[in-house]
Amino acid sequence: MSQSSDSTEIDTLTEKVAKNKLADLAKQLNDANIAYYVNSDPILSDAEFDQLKITNSAIESKFPHLMRADTPSNQIGATAASGFSKIKHSIRMLSLDNAFDKLDIQNFDISLRKYLGLSPEAELHYTAEPKIDGLSLSLRYENGKLTQAATRGDGQIGENVTANALNISDIPKVLDKSPEILEVRGEVYMTHSDFCLLNEHQIAVGGKIFANPRNAASGSLRQLDPNVTRSRPLHFFAYAWGEISEPLSLTQYDALKRLTSMGFKTNQLTEICRSIDDLLKKYNVLEAQRSQLDYDIDGVVYKVNDLSFQERLGARSTTPRWAISHKFPAESAWTKLEGIDIQVGRTGALSPVARLTPITVGGVVVSNATLHNEDYILGRDAKGQKIRDGKDIRIGDWVQIYRAGDVIPKVADVDLARRPKNSITFKFPTFCPICGSNAVREKNDAVRRCVGGLICSAQAVEKLKHFVSKSAFDIDGLGSKQIEMFYSDIDLPIKEPADIFTLRSRDNKNNNKLADREGWGEKSAKNLFAAIELRRRIPLNRLIFALGIRNVGEVVASDLARHFESWDQFIVAVDQLCIETATLLHESYRDKGEITGNPAWTEFTNIDGIGHTVTKALAVSFSEPSGRLSINKLISELSIENVIIAPQNDNQIMGQVIVFTGNLDKMTRAEAKARAEALGARVTSSVSSQTHLVVAGRSAGSKLKKAIELGVDTVDEDTWLKMINNS
Ligand code: IVH
Repeated sequence: MSQSSDSTEIDTLTEKVAKNKLADLAKQLNDANIAYYVNSDPILSDAEFDQLKITNSAIESKFPHLMRADTPSNQIGATAASGFSKIKHSIRMLSLDNAFDKLDIQNFDISLRKYLGLSPEAELHYTAEPKIDGLSLSLRYENGKLTQAATRGDGQIGENVTANALNISDIPKVLDKSPEILEVRGEVYMTHSDFCLLNEHQIAVGGKIFANPRNAASGSLRQLDPNVTRSRPLHFFAYAWGEISEPLSLTQYDALKRLTSMGFKTNQLTEICRSIDDLLKKYNVLEAQRSQLDYDIDGVVYKVNDLSFQERLGARSTTPRWAISHKFPAESAWTKLEGIDIQVGRTGALSPVARLTPITVGGVVVSNATLHNEDYILGRDAKGQKIRDGKDIRIGDWVQIYRAGDVIPKVADVDLARRPKNSITFKFPTFCPICGSNAVREKNDAVRRCVGGLICSAQAVEKLKHFVSKSAFDIDGLGSKQIEMFYSDIDLPIKEPADIFTLRSRDNKNNNKLADREGWGEKSAKNLFAAIELRRRIPLNRLIFALGIRNVGEVVASDLARHFESWDQFIVAVDQLCIETATLLHESYRDKGEITGNPAWTEFTNIDGIGHTVTKALAVSFSEPSGRLSINKLISELSIENVIIAPQNDNQIMGQVIVFTGNLDKMTRAEAKARAEALGARVTSSVSSQTHLVVAGRSAGSKLKKAIELGVDTVDEDTWLKMINNS
């Protein structure tokens, strides 16, 4: 695809012709967008579309004053993002765990020492550097040449923004003395001054106004047309790396110096800290400096300086153990509480939402905030203790709104001095505002719930939205918006998950065909049916998660799937659980939530990661007749993929249940456990007939004895080390 416009032709354009051309291009590109996104029936190839956009921006750069209010250059988001090819990161792009106070930092240091087997006095140095509020980017260099730039995406797969990265002057295109393969990771950001200039320009041309520098940086980098990126000044700080053919250095600090010498910008405020006190001092210094910096920072990142320690510490699923970000306090602002709405979630929970007079908090306009639950509104916590000195929150009050990063804003405080004289205590509804069923609050539950189940349209819709969400069935073209539409559709309703899988056959028999509806066409209807067919086959863990059972998130669903391996075995056990608990699911049991001496109950609570709360939720959910019927209907439509436990000779550790006992000399317990889990094992604390292997360190006692009695394999520490090094 040609990335250039015919510059000679543009050079000779008169103003009048340029104006007409821009109008023509805006129309062509707009029509093409509608054809592609709305009608799902493209009228231009990607290359033709790109070429038109390039020509459009070339004319705009020559005649900036002619830029139209509806310029195609300002189309950011879905249009731009979907046009990028995808890149799989060779090493996952991680994010950071957060700490908010001194205690979190002390605990971080304690846990690292424990993991590494270091005494409290032993040397453990950190680097402290500003946490830049931009978007992360991974740059791949091969033999010193920039070959690829990718956004973080979901950490595994990002967008290919190489053409745009080439337009960022802080990013070196050729490196001096670099390893053969080097992936440099860092943050793309926009300075405050450039951000103000950009928004002034956008106002002048009637273009999109960006809420904050981070959005502006993200919108500018994720542009299909690299010329737009070039016209928006972006910067880049390098702070980490991915795949690398040889180590950069022995320490984090020296690695950053090495990156600087190769031509990268690294943050000059980075320092080595030799103690927790040093870290906290640096935090205070940076917080004080924050307002004078010309770029946004939202905290300080602490990283273990010694790279061999970093390697030993490794990573959890999405965050490294060797780093943490110490966030600055959330930003806040005062505004008026106009009203309190009650939303009903998929498990029936009634959640109060504050409707506010819109206010800017930390650069973002906020008009809704969470009020958590009825106790929170009344000024007490789950244990009945006072919060906000017991001040309740009333409609008409002046309230303080807190917003920390991307977290949902919350109402933090209330100003009694400004309370209207005639205000009244908020009365939390005891009926569901959607279906009118009772909204009851069980003992020990902070939340009031609608008992309407699937007859409550709010619950049914939210359950369906959850069912099609990314980590569940993830059906292309069937998102929240479409679920709402189908839920209330007269001819082709989707009221429960099974209806999704009968949609096509029902449509066949219908007069009012989906393809003939407004917003749909032959192609988009066909695509939707195809996407649904694709998901008829579904892995067991996704299915269990998709059912939207209370307390059963992705991790619990995977734990259950791994344990039961197939739907048939799962449902037999669940049925048994329902039979056993049928007489127990009365008030007193519900309050206590624990049963002992019951075989099915015990089987569930013995599964690693499953406790009484989840077991109770499964029992309650599967014994509800209409819900159970709906699940049965769904199952008859599906083909469920069993969980395949990897054959043991692939990796000796995968799928094994391991117990560590006695003293280990070469690594700490925490490290041994993490290594085993990283290789796919489950680590438990007691030996039983389910145990596959006992690793017995020095002075192992009763657990080793029990293992021998039960005929469970046992190994010493050195054998264990050989096993993991061979895996
Ligand atoms: S290190 C393996 N250092 O913060 C470690 N991240 O909240 C990966 N960020 O995704 C990150 N400044 O986009 C690191 N000095 C810094 C950072 C930084 C900003 C971003 C980064 C990351 C996010 C996590």
